[in-house]
Order: sequence, then structure tokens, then C-alpha cells
Amino acid sequence: MNIGFIGAGHMGSAMIEGLLKAEVVTTENLFVKGGSSGTAELLQEKFGFQLIKEYEALENCQVIFIATGAKIVLEILKQAAPHMSKDTILISVATGHTVEEAQAVLGKEVHVVHAIPNTPVSVNAGMIGAVFANEMPVASKNEAVRILESLGKVEEVSENLLGTFGTVAGCSPAFVDIFMEALADGAVLEGMPRALSYEIIAQMMLGSAKLAIETKKHPGELKDGVTSPGGSTIKGVTALEKNGFRYAVIDAVKQANS
Ligand SMILES: NC(=O)c1ccc[n+]([C@@H]2O[C@H](COP(=O)([O-])OP(=O)(O)OC[C@H]3O[C@@H](n4cnc5c(N)ncnc54)[C@H](OP(=O)(O)O)[C@@H]3O)[C@@H](O)[C@H]2O)c1
Repeated sequence: MNIGFIGAGHMGSAMIEGLLKAEVVTTENLFVKGGSSGTAELLQEKFGFQLIKEYEALENCQVIFIATGAKIVLEILKQAAPHMSKDTILISVATGHTVEEAQAVLGKEVHVVHAIPNTPVSVNAGMIGAVFANEMPVASKNEAVRILESLGKVEEVSENLLGTFGTVAGCSPAFVDIFMEALADGAVLEGMPRALSYEIIAQMMLGSAKLAIETKKHPGELKDGVTSPGGSTIKGVTALEKNGFRYAVIDAVKQANS
């Protein structure tokens, strides 16, 4: 199977890396068109995929991803449309458009998926929200899900929730990164070497997420399990509440989603 990419910036490159790691596609069968800044050329040197310059070269791709900026995606789809067939699966990871708008540009026969991933797709641990065109045949939908699942967990969501999905799954890795950095700053303040701090904190976060996923326990119950009466954890929790930690997080989601 041939897979095409239009756009190989932060998200495009993360998906390319994940698809190659999962061996869903080989470098011979991966066709990537970048923009004008040379980012795709640098990526090609790293991964060795087929770098293409024209949309015409996408004609033999059964699945095409588009990962360009939101403002230009529909215009680019218009240019690429003549090179897609009625069997092409088009997976747009760009924000700022609906499935219907993409169909209006491409024609209803192209099987359109609107998927919002996050950067952990590069290590096949992504969280991907997906909306599938109503007209999409089951076989095409299954194929799209198979490819996306190689990059992480896939959740089918209604289109009106895709924006909020993008905020909590797509933007939050940056919030979590800041939290990890702040935890490490605290550890360094207390005398722990920085590199060791990051190693411990990343594993702690991985373990906490795994515990939540596997036990399906409410986060409050998991927190209660760590906070013994009069202990050090509840003192830390109190300091977080005093400094408006919950409100800061809720407001971050609200602002990112506005
Ligand atoms: N980053 C995330 O975590 C994330 C998560 C979910 C969804 N998204 C969505 O994914 C899309 C891409 O985001 P991003 O963060 O990857 O942005 P980005 O780093 O700016 O990447 C966009 C890429 O599109 C390329 N491009 C522009 N015009 C093109 C054309 N005519 N043909 C082929 N490539 C073209 C650009 O290439 P040049 O720079 O070389 O011109 C650039 O590398 C956005 O719509 C964003 O909302 C991003």
C-alpha cells in the first residue's frame, strides 16, 4: 500500500515517524510533499521516504494524509483533488474545517476522515479523535482505523467535540511538559540532579497514566490512595490548591479552546 503526505511539519513528521516505526508503510511506499521552507527535505534525509514536488505523484496512493496549516488546507485540497480517485482515503489532521467542507472540495466519493492526533503518535502512543464521512464504506473505514491505530488509541467522536478533543489531547502534551519541568525544578531545588529528576518524573507519569487506564479508578480515588492523614502528599496537595492549580488547568483548557 502507498501512503501520501501533504505537509511534513510538526504533526506530519510525528505521524511519518510513527507509521514507519509501526511498519505500516515502507520508505519506498511513502510519498511526501512538503512546503517551501525545506523542512520536508531535511526529514527525507533522516527517514529516506519518496520526496515529491507535485500533487500528481500522489495518484498511486491509496491513503493520503494532509497536515498543513488550518487556513490553507481547503485550498491545497482543491489543488490535489484532480489526483485523487473515488477509492482514495483522505485523512486530514488539519484543524479549522469540517468533513463536509473537505467533501465539498473533493467530491463525496473520496472517503474523508477528519482526525486530530497528538505528538505522541511519533512513538505510537498517540490519542487520536476521528470523524468519518457518513458515506464511507465499512472496508475503507476499517482501513483508516487500522492505519490510525498503529499510531495510538483511536476514539470516534462527533464533529462538534473535535475542537475540545484537540485541546485536551493535542494541546495538553505541552501543559504536561511544563508540569514535568516544574516538578524537576522542585527536585533540583531540593538537591536532586536535573537529568535524574526528568528520568524519575517521566516514569512516574507513565506509571500514573497506566494505573488510571488499567484500574479505571476515578482520579480522586487514586489521589486519595497516595494521601495518608497528616502526611507529606496532602501537604503538597494543599499547596497546589492554595496556588490555584485546578483553576489554572481549567483556564488553560478554556483559553486553548477559545
Ligand atoms: N502540532 C500538533 O500537536 C497538532 C495536533 C493536532 C492537529 N494539528 C494540526 O495539524 C496541522 C499541522 O500542524 P503542525 O503543527 O504540523 O504545523 P507546521 O509545523 O507549521 O506544519 C505545516 C506544514 O505544512 C507545510 N505546507 C505548507 N504548504 C504546503 C503545501 N502547499 N504542500 C505541502 N506542504 C505544505 C509546511 O511546509 P513549509 O513550512 O516547508 O512551507 C509545514 O511544514 C494544523 O492544521 C494543526 O492545527 C497539529
